[in-house]
Amino acid sequence: MKGHILTTLRAAETVVSGETLSQAMGVSRVTVWKHIRKLQEAGYPISAGPTGYRLTGDPDALYPWEFPGREKTLHYHPRVDSTMNVARTLARAGCPHMTVVVAGCQQRGRGRLQRVWRSAEGGLYFTIVLRPELPPVLAHRANFAASLVLARTLQKLYGVPAKVKWPNDILVAERKLCGMLSEMEAEGDLAAFINIGIGINVNHDPSADEPMATSLATLLGRPVSRRDLLACFLDSLEHRLQQPELADVIAEWKTQSATLGRRVRIVTTRETAEGLARDVDQNGALILEDNAGAVRKIIYGDCFHHLSRGTA
Ligand code: BTN
Repeated sequence: MKGHILTTLRAAETVVSGETLSQAMGVSRVTVWKHIRKLQEAGYPISAGPTGYRLTGDPDALYPWEFPGREKTLHYHPRVDSTMNVARTLARAGCPHMTVVVAGCQQRGRGRLQRVWRSAEGGLYFTIVLRPELPPVLAHRANFAASLVLARTLQKLYGVPAKVKWPNDILVAERKLCGMLSEMEAEGDLAAFINIGIGINVNHDPSADEPMATSLATLLGRPVSRRDLLACFLDSLEHRLQQPELADVIAEWKTQSATLGRRVRIVTTRETAEGLARDVDQNGALILEDNAGAVRKIIYGDCFHHLSRGTA
């Protein structure tokens, strides 16, 4: 109902009478008024006068009714500890594939390797619950699909040269625009759920705390609709995940990689390794030729690019 009212007011760009809205929606004018009041309370600037209602601005809101077709599966929290925690609870309780938990900001945002993910207002923070019918050994393909689809979405919507950095960050001109964290639980031969948490620097400037980070607003010199970005990404990811076993995803991910052919430093919970990033294998592991010439397979870790290019 709220989505319908907003669509009508946005399309009209002028005053719409209560009568018109009530007829279009098949409800009473009192019901329309109640929904308008709720929308105003949620922060939508809707003026109400004797001739009807008018939307006088369009906030970048992330309420479920802003995502037609996802009203029942998208959960918005203005403030939350971490969307990963909320999504895990929902996943264990049996929520459907493509359930999304979105936050306006996070008080305990989590990054990889136990780091904190600063989650100020203006960014886009969400976790998607996936049930892709993959065996646990292939679950990493869902992460590669998500980072690939996100890079392509950023290229398409904003024309930015987004690249994927192993394992699943998104960089633009070597600066970090998005980070990704995933959690999986298995049940027998299949992944019961794979939760993918994504933080995107959108309308805030993270560079004071993270000098090697950037945001879309910094790159484009204008604010960006988090709603449009999230809607487009979710539709594209859902479509991509329909491909059986995501067979080609790593090969395609490699075409968008900022890591391959680079000299890198890999930090894991146990060690640090340096060398040339040669390849990513079918299991998503980074094939590193270390500085002693040994070829090693790195399954998990954080990757730092050296600024000079290596010779592959
Ligand atoms: C990283 O680069 O270290 C991964 C960052 C992942 C951050 C996202 S924001 C949404 C979701 N909730 C969290 O607490 N973390 C992920």
